[in-house]
Amino acid sequence: MHVAFLNPQGNFDPNDSYWTEHPDFGGQLVYVKEVALAMAALGHRVDIITRQISDDQWPEFAAPLDGYPGHPNARIVRIPCGPPHFLPKEQLWPHLGTGWTAGITGFYQADGGLPDFFTTHYGDGGLAGALLKQQTGVPFTFTGHSLGAQKLDKLHPTPNSLAKIDARFHFKERIFGERLAMNHAARIITSTRQEQMEQYSHRAYHGAVDPAGADHDRFAVIPPGVNRRVFSPEPGPADATVAARIDTALARDLPPERRALPLVLCSSRLDQKKNHIGLVKAFAENADLRRTANLAIAIRGLDNPLQQRAQLKKAEERAIFDDIARLLDEHNLWPAVTSFSLNSQAELAAAYRVTAARGSVFSLTATYEPFGLAPLEAMSCGLPAVVTQNGGPSESLFDAATGKKFGVLVDPANPADIARGLLEALESPETWQYYQLAGIERVISRYTWDRTAEGYLAAIEQAAAHLAKDGTLSVPDYFTHPGPATEIPLSALADLYFQA
Ligand code: F6P
Repeated sequence: MHVAFLNPQGNFDPNDSYWTEHPDFGGQLVYVKEVALAMAALGHRVDIITRQISDDQWPEFAAPLDGYPGHPNARIVRIPCGPPHFLPKEQLWPHLGTGWTAGITGFYQADGGLPDFFTTHYGDGGLAGALLKQQTGVPFTFTGHSLGAQKLDKLHPTPNSLAKIDARFHFKERIFGERLAMNHAARIITSTRQEQMEQYSHRAYHGAVDPAGADHDRFAVIPPGVNRRVFSPEPGPADATVAARIDTALARDLPPERRALPLVLCSSRLDQKKNHIGLVKAFAENADLRRTANLAIAIRGLDNPLQQRAQLKKAEERAIFDDIARLLDEHNLWPAVTSFSLNSQAELAAAYRVTAARGSVFSLTATYEPFGLAPLEAMSCGLPAVVTQNGGPSESLFDAATGKKFGVLVDPANPADIARGLLEALESPETWQYYQLAGIERVISRYTWDRTAEGYLAAIEQAAAHLAKDGTLSVPDYFTHPGPATEIPLSALADLYFQA
């Protein structure tokens, strides 16, 4: 099979340039690269199609063709899309249905023929997929990664503020592009069933897709994978450094008699949604938990984060640590809490292994976690996970069909339940070991990029066998003839978004 991945935003090169340094070079690129390479390793011809950028500031992305050493079946294909210089993803919309799709069909004409299937990523890739389907008949899958409607929700628009928000983020084009992609895709790929049912049922997508009804079977739930090259129980290059760092922190922060206790390791980003406070309250309220384990909070950058919290750059982060410090004062909890830095994926994986060797657990008590890759990464290293029951972990840590548990789920709104879950995993060496082995088994059987690639191939093959009827939505003129006269009116977005 010949499969092409449409991902206009960000870019790809053999050195993974700019990953995590720019908002368009985040998790989505990791996802596309890993699925594409896993598919190529299974013997398929794979192209990642992105933008050609001729810009001195971004020299890595000028060549029309590129690849990954050791992966002869995979190509990076860069096609011009609008002006030659780098454009952030919000500014790609007028160029996708004109130069980019024309460039893609031109490339394949010269290359000896079109691919069998496109996989498309984010609304911008999805829009291009829908337009290419109309022009060439080649079907496509759509993976949203992050949908515009939910992003708009977070900005709390009112009918009065919508124009200002739209001027910055271009939601008109994004949501109308996403609607076309959802409507015309042969399969829609989500990471969890909840993502399908909750995100795609947003009123902004009514009339384009019906995730619980007519379109239910067009969805395929295919989870992303854990990078097992980094997150594995096998010792890694950072283990010795991280072990020494943790020992130093324990000696600095904890009285001698508490230093050998297991740790409850919390390595989430400092964000209110991650609910560090709920976890601290669990320690404050439960004496058994305090007797059994210490709390370890890890963040990037600071050696002694709790004491150096004034150096945190963001006010929200300082506020979270100030709240934690207040709780530690109030409940006299300082002797049970340590903090240190973890500065890379390799260090995170090392910390999971080092703390697992002390019989510790990983904890993520976020109010809601859409997918929850971090607990799977910890489990993959052999660290049992105690995690929020809200969102993806309810599917990844628990098999509803068999009742089997692969980690412990807790109610993040209830500190008593968080303590209950932590104590469950720490209750005895046998229980801890059960969760350790079950966690590793779960990741290997369901959450590797090979499994993700196999899931895509199965979804593509099923779709090719029973090609869905064509979509019903027509293409707004703006996408094929962009200009002031064809602009999607703001009222069209407002009608969708604010409808009852
Ligand atoms: O790669 C990073 C990512 O997860 C992408 O899916 C997407 O580009 C971005 O973050 C989120 O996009 P947005 O904030 O526009 O929803």
